[in-house]
Amino acid sequence: MGALPHFNPDDDTDPLPAEVVRLRTLIASADALLICTPEYAGDLPGSFKNLLDWTVGGVEISDKPVGWVNASVAPTGAAGAHAALRTVLGYTGARIVDPAAVHIPVPRDAIAPSGTITDPASRAALTGAITTLLSAARAHH
Ligand SMILES: Cc1cc2nc3c(=O)[nH]c(=O)nc-3n(C[C@H](O)[C@H](O)[C@H](O)COP(=O)(O)O)c2cc1C
Repeated sequence: MGALPHFNPDDDTDPLPAEVVRLRTLIASADALLICTPEYAGDLPGSFKNLLDWTVGGVEISDKPVGWVNASVAPTGAAGAHAALRTVLGYTGARIVDPAAVHIPVPRDAIAPSGTITDPASRAALTGAITTLLSAARAHH
């Protein structure tokens, strides 16, 4: 993501920048996309929005099952990032799998020192989202 050039429609022509080819090849090879992003200043990180902008001109993400789990400790629960993902992915033509596009509250005390989420409810919610996305990907084939 950090190696992508800033999006410019004038550059979305052959020969494409190598990192854009790499991004689109990775998306093409995936059965589904699971996004997990922080929220910065109430919105998607600019760098990630830039990545998504590069997917709009390609066909790879079109109809691709997509879900997201944005764990946030903020009181808003990363509402801005959620809303932005829905808006931006709508432009990409990706197929948003609603039950896999979830907000899962993860309080800091639910995270073990190893970084693993130990809280059973959070784990169950994560498993549910991932299982749903996998089912959508299989049905897609
Ligand atoms: C500059 C900055 C702005 C942030 N803005 C938000 C925000 O608007 N909403 C939110 O839920 N979290 C926000 N965060 C928190 C991040 O989304 C993320 O949860 C945090 O950086 C994770 O850090 P940790 O791994 O230390 O918990 C912000 C973090 C930084 C550094």
